[in-house]
Amino acid sequence: MRILIIGAGGREHALVWKLSQSPNVKELYCAPGNGGIAEMATCLLIKETEIDKLVQFAKEQAIDLTVVGPEVPLIAGIVDRFQREGLVIFGPNQKAAQLEGSKQFAKDIMKRYQIPTAAYETFTDAEAAKAYVRQKGAPIVVKADGLAAGKGVIVAHTMEEAIRAIEDCMEHAAFGDAGSKLVIEDFLEGIELSLMAFVDGTVIRPMVLAQDHKPVFDGGKGPNTGGMGTYSPVPPYGEETRERAMKEILIPMVQALQAEGIHYQGVLYAGLMMVGEQPYVIEFNARFGDPETQVVLPRLENDLAEVLYAVATGNLEGISLDWKKDAAVCVILASGGYPGSYQKGYPITGISSEKKSILFHSGTKQDAGEIQTAGGRVLGVTAVGQDLVEARDKAYETVQQVQFQDMHYRTDIALWAANQQRRSFNKSN
Ligand code: AMP
Ligand code: GLY
Repeated sequence: MRILIIGAGGREHALVWKLSQSPNVKELYCAPGNGGIAEMATCLLIKETEIDKLVQFAKEQAIDLTVVGPEVPLIAGIVDRFQREGLVIFGPNQKAAQLEGSKQFAKDIMKRYQIPTAAYETFTDAEAAKAYVRQKGAPIVVKADGLAAGKGVIVAHTMEEAIRAIEDCMEHAAFGDAGSKLVIEDFLEGIELSLMAFVDGTVIRPMVLAQDHKPVFDGGKGPNTGGMGTYSPVPPYGEETRERAMKEILIPMVQALQAEGIHYQGVLYAGLMMVGEQPYVIEFNARFGDPETQVVLPRLENDLAEVLYAVATGNLEGISLDWKKDAAVCVILASGGYPGSYQKGYPITGISSEKKSILFHSGTKQDAGEIQTAGGRVLGVTAVGQDLVEARDKAYETVQQVQFQDMHYRTDIALWAANQQRRSFNKSN
C-alpha cells in the first residue's frame, strides 16, 4: 500500500511510526510532516489545507489510502473532495466533522438522542447569555461554538469570570467568528477520560482508554494546552467503564448520526467526564487525539494499515482489535512560554541515541542536519512498560537526556494513576 498522512504533529508521527511496521505498507508520505517524521516517511511541501495539491499528489502517485490527522482539513471538506475524485481517505466528511466543528451541532444531537452531557443553552446575543449566567450562577462553562485551537472553552469559577468570557468572545471577538455563537453549559466535576473508537459508518471498535493532562503546570495548574502528556491504561477505569461509555455514548451517537442521514467514518473521539461511575460527554472530536494517539497506538497489536483501510472502505466488521497489556506514558516537552508566545529555532540535543523511549516529534524541523524546535509542543517522549510505574520511569529517564533552551514539561504525568496501579497490585499480591 502507498499511504499519505496529512498533518505535522506528534499524532501524525505516531501514525507514521505504527504504519511503518506494517508489512503491507510499501511507501509512506506525509504532508507536511516534521523533523522526526522525515526519518520514516517522505515529507511533502504541501500544507494540510492545500486540498487541490493534496488531491493532485494522491492521484499522480497512485496513493491507496490517505489518512487525515488534524480537524481543520476535515471541517474544510477534504474527505468529500477526495471521495468525489474516487480516492480512498480515512476521516469523516464535512457534515460529520461538524461534530467537532460546531459545539452546538454536537450538543443538539446529544440532547435529541439523550446522550449524557451537561445541560446547556446556545446564544448569539451577549445580553441574553449574561442573563442566563446570572440566573444559573457559577461555576459554569462558556464555550465558543466554532474551532478555537483548543482555547475556546472557559471554565468560569465566578460569575465575573463568566461575564468576562462572554464579553471577550462576543464583544471583543477573542476567538474571531468561532465565538460569535456561544454554548453555555453546566460545570461537571469528575475525572476526565478520552475514549476513541474506529467507526466505518456502522461498525464501531473502541480503542483503549487514555487520559490527557491539559493544564500546562504540575497539579493541573495554569492555562489549558493542547495536552502536556497522556497515559493508558487509566486505572481504576477499565473494561466496565469502556463498555458503559460504548453502550450509553458511542453506539447511540453513531446510531443518531445514521438516523440524521450522516455517514460517519474515521475516528470518533469522546472526551468524557466521569461523575462517579457515570460518563458524560465533554466534547466530541472527529479525529485521533493528540497526544492520546502517542500512548494508544503503541498498545495496538493489529496492523494499523489494515484497520484504517477497513474503516475507510466500510469493512470493519471482520476486524477485531487486540491490545497489549503493557502501559504507555507520553510526556510532552514544550517550548518555554507555551501555550502563550514562545521562541522557535533552538537546537535539540540528546535525542539521537535514545533507546528506552519513542520520541514522537510534535513541533520540530530539520535544518542542515540539525533538529530544531519549531512549535509549542516540541516532543512527546513515550515509553512502554509492564505497568504505569515502569513506563513513567523510562519516559522520565529519557526526558532527563533531552535538552533545548527553555524546555518545559510536567513532572506529574500519570503519577496518580501509577500510584493507584501499584497500590492495587500490592493489595492483590
Ligand atoms: P474542551 O475543549 O471542550 O475539551 O474543553 C476543554 C476543557 O475544559 C476540558 O478538558 C475540561 O477540562 C473543561 N470542561 C469543558 N466542559 C466542561 C464542563 N461542562 N464541566 C467541567 N469542565 C469542563
Ligand atoms: N488531546 C486532546 C485533543 O486531541 O483534542
